[in-house]
Amino acid sequence: MAVNEKCTIKTHEDAAPGYRMLVLAAPQIAAAATPGQFVHVKIPSLEDSALRRPFSIFDADAAAGTVTVLYKMVGRGTAALAKELPGAALEVIGPLGFGFPVTCDGVPLLVGGGYGVAPLYFLAKRLLAQGVAEKPILFVGGRTKGDLLEVERFRALGMEVRTATNDGSEGVKGFVTEPLDDALIALREQGKKFEFFTCGPDGLLKAVSQRAVGTGSKGWISMDRHMICGVGACFACVQKLRKANGEEWNARCCVNGPVFKAEEIVW
Ligand SMILES: Cc1cc2nc3c(=O)[nH]c(=O)nc-3n(C[C@H](O)[C@H](O)[C@H](O)COP(=O)(O)OP(=O)(O)OC[C@H]3O[C@@H](n4cnc5c(N)ncnc54)[C@H](O)[C@@H]3O)c2cc1C
Ligand code: FES
Repeated sequence: MAVNEKCTIKTHEDAAPGYRMLVLAAPQIAAAATPGQFVHVKIPSLEDSALRRPFSIFDADAAAGTVTVLYKMVGRGTAALAKELPGAALEVIGPLGFGFPVTCDGVPLLVGGGYGVAPLYFLAKRLLAQGVAEKPILFVGGRTKGDLLEVERFRALGMEVRTATNDGSEGVKGFVTEPLDDALIALREQGKKFEFFTCGPDGLLKAVSQRAVGTGSKGWISMDRHMICGVGACFACVQKLRKANGEEWNARCCVNGPVFKAEEIVW
């Protein structure tokens, strides 16, 4: 269950140009968090500090009582958050939402774009801790190599990492779907099953959803929608979904997601 926890910043450092890694002492949230869930952070120095900002849980360590967030500085809220120093107090609600399953039938294909790798690291750790039969593979894309975040941490888990950048500065030149498609061909030739777990920009989520549906595999899609309340009250984060009987309905990403099944999403 989500709590409103008064947390303390343990460390707060640059992760890459334009990105920060925030480690919070947040024992209650750390104990309850599962991969794909998010925290809603109140940023003290903003005048409208009642409006929180949502961030995926990059990592949660129940034993250490810490929750880690990896974020990109994009606007007022994240710029103000970036200035908060270790020792500062932050009010954080979490863990919120429904995340990824931590089981997989076949090879877990984790596909991230930019800060979309954030929930995939926690997921990779949990899948490996569960002893999944096949090691997860990470496919990560960005505009340039500076957007390929924390890949060494994934490699340190013993995972294979395949990269793509739009400008060709690292990995395949183009979209991350290119190395993904190569892997799908190889896995199908080997007669292996796989499931997709993805987070990133909408174009990537849609492309991965199409591949999940097209290959008859499961796809778990983490939607990034603008949020205000984070708890289901304001309907700012609506995403249209389709039930098995064809009926469409408006899901709220904060309480019904952010992770949805690929075949449910109406693009
Ligand atoms: C469930 C969820 C998990 C998220 N996880 C992460 C994460 O792990 N790391 C991370 O860096 N960011 C994450 N985000 C996005 C993050 O919440 C926004 O970037 C942040 O709220 C922007 O705040 P701001 O005040 O700096 O920007 P604002 O000044 O509010 O906006 C600056 C720009 O960012 C755009 N923006 C605002 N919110 C979003 C959003 N949700 N998605 C895309 N663009 C947005 C605005 O349209 C505008 O162009 C997540 C969002 C959701 C909904
Ligand atoms: S953010 Fe208010 S309903 Fe989801």
